Amino acid sequence: MIATPTKNPHTGQDYLPKNAINTKKPSPNQSLLPLTANINDRDHLEIGGCDIETLVEQFGSPLYILDETTLRNACSQYRDGFKTYYQGESQVIYASKAWSSLAVVGVIATEDLGFDVVSGGELYTTEKSLTQLGYSCQEIAQKIYFHGNNKSVAELKQALEVGCTIIVDNWLELQTLVQLSQSLPDQSIPILIRLTPGIECHTHEYIRTGHLDSKFGFDPHQLETVFAYIAEHKSLNCRGLHAHIGSQIFEKQPHQDLAGVLVEWLKIGQEYGLTLPELNIGGGLGIRYTEEDDPPSIEEWVKAVSEAVMQACQRSNIPLPKLIAEPGRSLIGSACVTAYKVGSRKEIPELRTYIAVDGGMSDNPRPITYQSAYSVVLGNKMSAEINETVTVAGKHCESGDIVIKDARLPQTHPGDILVIMGTGAYNYSMASNYNRLPRPAAVLVNNGEANLILRRETYDDLIRQDCLPEKLIP
Ligand code: LLP
Repeated sequence: MIATPTKNPHTGQDYLPKNAINTKKPSPNQSLLPLTANINDRDHLEIGGCDIETLVEQFGSPLYILDETTLRNACSQYRDGFKTYYQGESQVIYASKAWSSLAVVGVIATEDLGFDVVSGGELYTTEKSLTQLGYSCQEIAQKIYFHGNNKSVAELKQALEVGCTIIVDNWLELQTLVQLSQSLPDQSIPILIRLTPGIECHTHEYIRTGHLDSKFGFDPHQLETVFAYIAEHKSLNCRGLHAHIGSQIFEKQPHQDLAGVLVEWLKIGQEYGLTLPELNIGGGLGIRYTEEDDPPSIEEWVKAVSEAVMQACQRSNIPLPKLIAEPGRSLIGSACVTAYKVGSRKEIPELRTYIAVDGGMSDNPRPITYQSAYSVVLGNKMSAEINETVTVAGKHCESGDIVIKDARLPQTHPGDILVIMGTGAYNYSMASNYNRLPRPAAVLVNNGEANLILRRETYDDLIRQDCLPEKLIP
């Protein structure tokens, strides 16, 4: 391993985006590459002590490479941050929609975090992983919070069986729970109430959820009726309130404002005789995808939120609730990169050069869905001179299947390895089989060891659910 140079010795140019490789190990969400990124003596990118080219030879491409150190570091920054800055009890729960899998749950559970799940499938995955890890039923129940704006009766029954907290989103759900509780005579159901706080934040319209025109949660004008209803139904053990205002947020103010709104509602709820000992502030802290992105660190965010909740409680003269935060992206986003192999090239004189990779919108639908920007390095020639502007295209039959527009890269050749950074959140979890591409494998890397955490799909996997009616077979 050699020391990480910051400039290309031949050109004096930065050959990596600034901050792509860290010297001082900042907050994971401010770092383009995982914290363990390095350049080895083969001039290859190395993550978790594993050479990128060797990983691709061994596991194929595209490949999700998840760095255990970065993931654990983000978990501990959240967990310890709240212990430092918040004077009451706190709990960090991972929004598993960012990436739900047995191994991801496994790593995060051992960091003492809980889990936000939003479907029967995420609940099943989380429960299975925790059970295999040896957690007791009671521990599992305490670790999981179940979200969703349209939970089915089957999902609610599944949640009741696990005994997790249900974050109630609407009237139908509240009434269904009361009905279901009649067949569970001794059980009072732990719930939180989700509300839309009416707070705007600057993020993509599709990933904004806290403004009033949102499909999620109770509208504030209904809340007092909800409190009165809960107060009358002893089978509902309402432990507090929840709100989530959006995702990929770089400002601290919206969450500080949210703290104020939630604390005021806690006070009103308490006037209805509910104890409401918990306050869940949601997730939403952004990560650095490109050099221009400048999110606050996890520690700064935790400090701002903690202080805002404590001040609001002092103003309202209520005891400090147990403070819950449920980050997804900022816990896992920067811990992962995707390695692709370069294939074809198309040069359109004076217009654009495309280089195509062996994946695209099926393993990362974020660029086509939200016009999200990413950063890239040439993982097998880290100090090659950067001398081209190219558009990195996916291999799908859609013109919009572009991984990065106008990326600055060295000259590439077929077989070279392009590494896209910040792909840990909402990549695998939103992946599809569009054009019948098998979904990639994923490895967890640490201390020079790579463990497979997702098997690459095969063509047989692709037709596993297909049925060919007998009548079509001559
Ligand atoms: N809690 C709730 C209730 C949520 O709806 C979300 C995200 C989170 C927590 C976690 O938010 P985070 O810390 O990850 O920002 N697919 C989009 C993101 C959708 C986020 C949905 N909710 C994307 O790729 O940007």
